[in-house]
Amino acid sequence: MLDQTNRARSIEALAPRADFPILARPIHDRPLIYLDSTATSQKPATVLDAMDSYYRQTNANVHRGAYTLSEEASEQYEQARRHIARFIHAHSWREIIFTRNTTEGINLLAWTWGLSQLKARDTILLTEMEHHSNLVPWQILAQRTGAQLAFVPVREDGRLDLDAYRQLLETHMPKLVAFSLMSNVLGTIPPARLMVELAHAAGATVFCDGAQSVAHLPTDVRDLDCDALAFSGHKMLGPTGIGVLYGKRALLEALPPFMGGGDMIGEVQLHTFTPNALPWKFEAGTPAIAEVIGLAAALSYLEHLEMARVAAHETALVDYMLARLSAIPGLRIIGPTDAVDRGAVVSFTLAELHPHDLATLLDRDGIAIRAGHHCAQPLMERFAVPATARASAYVYTNAAEIDALGVAIERARRLFL
Ligand SMILES: Cc1ncc(COP(=O)(O)O)c(C=O)c1O
Repeated sequence: MLDQTNRARSIEALAPRADFPILARPIHDRPLIYLDSTATSQKPATVLDAMDSYYRQTNANVHRGAYTLSEEASEQYEQARRHIARFIHAHSWREIIFTRNTTEGINLLAWTWGLSQLKARDTILLTEMEHHSNLVPWQILAQRTGAQLAFVPVREDGRLDLDAYRQLLETHMPKLVAFSLMSNVLGTIPPARLMVELAHAAGATVFCDGAQSVAHLPTDVRDLDCDALAFSGHKMLGPTGIGVLYGKRALLEALPPFMGGGDMIGEVQLHTFTPNALPWKFEAGTPAIAEVIGLAAALSYLEHLEMARVAAHETALVDYMLARLSAIPGLRIIGPTDAVDRGAVVSFTLAELHPHDLATLLDRDGIAIRAGHHCAQPLMERFAVPATARASAYVYTNAAEIDALGVAIERARRLFL
C-alpha cells in the first residue's frame, strides 16, 4: 500500500486543473473527479475564451462578404484548417474537411467513396472492437451495395488477432479496411502502421477511426499512410459539433460531393452545378465557425503540452490504474492488462454489481465514470458481458484521483457484495 501511495504521488496531472473551469465545480459537495474523457473531454478556458471572443468580436459568415468581419472570420476559419493539417502532418490543408464529428466523417466516406466504389460481393474488412460509428455506416453501405462485411477477431487479451487479419486479407481481398486506432472500450492500440501496409499490399483502401487516438497520441498521417482518418474535436479539449475528415488528396478529388447546398459549389444553373474545389466541395452550408476556432485553440493547448508527453502521461496513469484496479477482489478488467500499446481507458466489471449501479454510487463521491455498452454492443457480446464500467484519464487526471476511484469501488464492494 505504501508503494502504491508513493506511485500515486509521483503522477501529477500534466495540465493544471485550474485551466479547466468545470473542474472547480463540486459534485454532491465533493471535488469533481472526471474519469469519462473517452466520452468527451473537458475544455480549458483558452478554448472557451477563443469561442467567446469570436462571437463578441468577429462573428460573420465565412467566404461571403467583402467586409472586415467576414474577412476576419474567414481568415480565422481557414487558419484553423492549416493548423489541423500541421497537427496531423497532412500533405496539404486541402485534405482537411470539417465535419460535425467522427461519425459524420465516416458517413461521408461511406456515401461518397462507398457508393461510388463498391459492388455486390466486395468485402469491407472491419474489426470486432469497432465503435458503432465505424460499424453501422458500413452495414448500411453493405445493405445498399450487396457488399459483405468481415471482421478481424479480438483475442481474449483484448488485442487484435493479427494472424487472422493476414489471412482475411488473403482470402477476402477487401476493397476497404477500416479500423480504430484506439479502442474506446479496451484501450487497445493496434499496430496501425503494419496493418495499413498489409492492407495496401492486398489492394485495399484504408480508413482509420482516430476518435480516440488523435486526442491522446501524436498523429502523423504521412507516416501512417492511411487513405482517410476521422476524429472529433470534443474528445481533444475542443467543443462539440466539430470534427475532421482527413483524406489523401487524390482520393478526395475522385469522390462525388456528399451534401448539396451553399459553399460546396463552383457554379449553379437551374438543372446542374459544378462542385467547388477541395476541401469546400464537402462542406455544404454555413459551417460551425466558432467551433472550428475553438478546436484550433484546443490544438494550441495540446501542442503546448506536447503530444508525446500527453501519451507518456497516459501510459504512466494506465499502468497505475491497471495495478490499482486489478488488486480489487472480484474486479475483472476487459482489455489488455498491461500498459503496452494501450490508452488510459479501463473497462471492468465488479462481480455481480451492475455497472450502472456502480456508476451511480461513485457519482455520490463526485466520481464520474461511464457504464453501459459504450456504443460497442458486438464487443460486449464478444466478452460475454451486457455492459461494463469504464474509467478513462486525460491530461488533467492524476494518480490520486485513480486512488480515490479504487477506494470508492472497494467501498461499493463492501456494501453490496
Ligand atoms: C472509437 C470511436 N469511434 C467513433 C466515435 C464517435 O465519435 P463521435 O460521437 O464524436 O462522432 C467514438 C466516440 O466515442 C469512439 O470512441
